[in-house]
Amino acid sequence: MNSQSLAPEQLQTLETELTTAYEALKKENLKLDITRGKPSTEQVSLADNLDGILNGNFISDSGIDTRNYGHLRGLPESCKLGGEILGVPESQVITGGNGSLSLMHSVALLHYLYGYNNQAWQQLDKPTFICPVPGYDRHFSICENLNIEMITVPMTEAGPDMDMVESLLKTHPNIVGMWCVPKYSNPTGSSYSSETVERIAKLGKIAQPYFRVFWDNAYAIHTIEESPEKLSNIWHACQENSTEDSVWQFASSSKVSFAGAGISWVAGSDSNLQAFEKLLGVTTIGSDKVNQLRHHRLFPNRSALVSHMQKHANIVQAKFEIVLKVLNDELQEYGHWTEAKGGYFISFDSQPGLAKNIEKLASEAGLKLTPAGATFPYGKDPEDRNIRIAPTFPCVEELEKAMEIFAVCVKLATVRKHLH
Ligand SMILES: Cc1ncc(COP(=O)(O)O)c(C=O)c1O
Repeated sequence: MNSQSLAPEQLQTLETELTTAYEALKKENLKLDITRGKPSTEQVSLADNLDGILNGNFISDSGIDTRNYGHLRGLPESCKLGGEILGVPESQVITGGNGSLSLMHSVALLHYLYGYNNQAWQQLDKPTFICPVPGYDRHFSICENLNIEMITVPMTEAGPDMDMVESLLKTHPNIVGMWCVPKYSNPTGSSYSSETVERIAKLGKIAQPYFRVFWDNAYAIHTIEESPEKLSNIWHACQENSTEDSVWQFASSSKVSFAGAGISWVAGSDSNLQAFEKLLGVTTIGSDKVNQLRHHRLFPNRSALVSHMQKHANIVQAKFEIVLKVLNDELQEYGHWTEAKGGYFISFDSQPGLAKNIEKLASEAGLKLTPAGATFPYGKDPEDRNIRIAPTFPCVEELEKAMEIFAVCVKLATVRKHLH
């Protein structure tokens, strides 16, 4: 809506109606939460067969006794699975423990402390990452934690604005890295076009030798619609451009099996993996191979994985539909949003200057939203308009109620803005 679309008296009437609806919701003393992209209990239960699946057989197909020390790169079977998900040969993969975020942090630490050809990021004046926005808050936290500065570039439907990325790299020698969530991005849900992937693979030619893309393919297999988005293979594109060292890839089974007890993968060039293995060897004698074997038994081949992900999709799709219905029916005039074919989020843009206010109104009515600004570095959304909606965790009834509150809060904040 814009301030011209309604006469002042009509706006006032609308404000009164919305305030009445809002106060009634407040009286319900609700406690709802659509903040984090967590799988629901129903989703994690899909992998309950992990419990007991080994049945006393701890020896992997490759003949490794998973109960013992060693095999820093993880089980070959697990590296193969990670390679299939990330589109690289098994030899380019290291399998880790629960959560890919810790791998990303460790790789960033590796470059920060030691670097490539001894060019450690910490020796540079203001090492800086390119951060497509809106983006994932925990990526930004890794940068903040290491005192790495962040420059934002806007996300488009085809991925980050690549003209801007290329021109930044040509003019800023202190740029050491770039975050990418190439498929069903967090939070916009968009997937990078083939052209974007190609251009990212070429960045290694114009950037400094210590520059690295962090290709976080967290939603590589998390399609919710029938036809999955096709992402071009970054590894092949790098091979064609001889830039294999410039890209690290990551993925995990967090939103496939158990978010709290999964396995993770990092993939890269031979020299990158050797450097990482050296650091890894200082911190551990080996990751949890028993859990890696459990995952191999649950997902012995690609088709087992695909049919498992289809079960996730059925659950998640119903929740996305609830959110999109409310947005489409109620909020057409109040904002913009994305309709992703997969992933975990819907990114909502209110009119400028309202996101914090919407978050506050929602919180007072018992609905916790992802903090406004969280999708930008340092928690600062310059336009104060982006809100990330995470529909997966609540049950259907809770989600419906949450969206009812959300719609009233967005409308109320917008109408009040136009009144004052
Ligand atoms: C883009 C992205 N990367 C990584 C993660 C976390 O991954 P993991 O559980 O493997 O640490 C998430 C979780 O929401 C995510 O959205």
